[in-house]
Amino acid sequence: MTTISEILNKERFTKEDIVKLLKTKGEESKLLLDKAREVKVKHIGNKVYYRGLIEFSNICAKDCYYCGIRRSNKNTNRYEIGTKDILFAAKFAHENRYASIVLQGGERTDNVFIENVDNLLKKIKEQTNGELGITISLGEQSEEVYKRWFDSGAHRFLLRIEASNRELYNKIHPNNDLHNFDKRLDALKTLQNLGYQTGTGGMVGLPFQTYENLAEDLLFYKKFDIDMVGMGPYIEHAETPMYVHSKDLLPQKERFNITLKMIAILRIMMPDINIAAATALQSIDPLGREKALKIGANVIMPNITPTIHRKEYQLYENKPCIDEGADDCTGCLEARISLVGDKVGYGEWGDSKHYFNRTKK
Ligand code: 5AD
Ligand code: FES
Repeated sequence: MTTISEILNKERFTKEDIVKLLKTKGEESKLLLDKAREVKVKHIGNKVYYRGLIEFSNICAKDCYYCGIRRSNKNTNRYEIGTKDILFAAKFAHENRYASIVLQGGERTDNVFIENVDNLLKKIKEQTNGELGITISLGEQSEEVYKRWFDSGAHRFLLRIEASNRELYNKIHPNNDLHNFDKRLDALKTLQNLGYQTGTGGMVGLPFQTYENLAEDLLFYKKFDIDMVGMGPYIEHAETPMYVHSKDLLPQKERFNITLKMIAILRIMMPDINIAAATALQSIDPLGREKALKIGANVIMPNITPTIHRKEYQLYENKPCIDEGADDCTGCLEARISLVGDKVGYGEWGDSKHYFNRTKK
């Protein structure tokens, strides 16, 4: 039988190897996490890049079974932050040398929305002399729209595949044209072809999800040659259809630990990509994101959404930092990051090295 050390020394992991690594406990698990730290420091160093997260609207046309802001949830107070407030948050990020922001919102494809985002991108670029990097996370759009937003200043895009296994994807989404696995794949490919630094990811610990499914996710990211990944634990939300499966889930702490192992394995498999320490980790453990940085992640997304709207952007329950303003939220972040041996790359875009390695090939 192959030992964990032997697997860790392999050039390439098979699905079976990944499943074994995901099931490690105690000392064996520590071997994995230590190796991932070593790979991270060797290939990309110990710098952490900030992406100020602005969740500018929770109006969503989709109906994903797991998500608290899904269209059919009538108990959510829908909001949209005005241009002035978004520009203010972007200014905060720029002045505090975050270097990049992420504009995230519910998915919409109507013209008013497309136009609004386009204007925002141009204004943010203008206001910061092109210095602020902009990542967008706005779902599936047409190639034309992706191109338009790219030309207006967005240079990275996050579109999680959520679950790379088609059957699992179909179980966690409604079965209709708006939630189509092939369309999602096409959207990711389009983003990559247009020249975006392309990010994807998924949830860990979903109902019906197996260890094999998780291994498939990591192999998918590798095969897709993805530049950035964000993976977070699935967290149940009472006002979603998936809540009925709550009793079948692994305990939250276990979902958290498996997510850390997913990050560590991926860091070893793809040493030069950007990996985000997902916010959902912090919902389970107050130091969750820092723990992820320690073992492989290199990007963190401090929430800079104006506080009054935080309560309404609840994709899952117990979302952290809902009551804090951007300042309080980031004040002690730097200290927590230094506790795990990393330092903040203030004023640096911190682009995915993989993107440059991939595109110069
Ligand atoms: N638990 C954890 N993550 C969730 N997301 C949506 N709903 C949940 C949930 N209940 C994640 C999805 C989405 C991202 C913005 O938030 O992966 O892509
Ligand atoms: Fe909004 Fe899934 S519910 S994108």
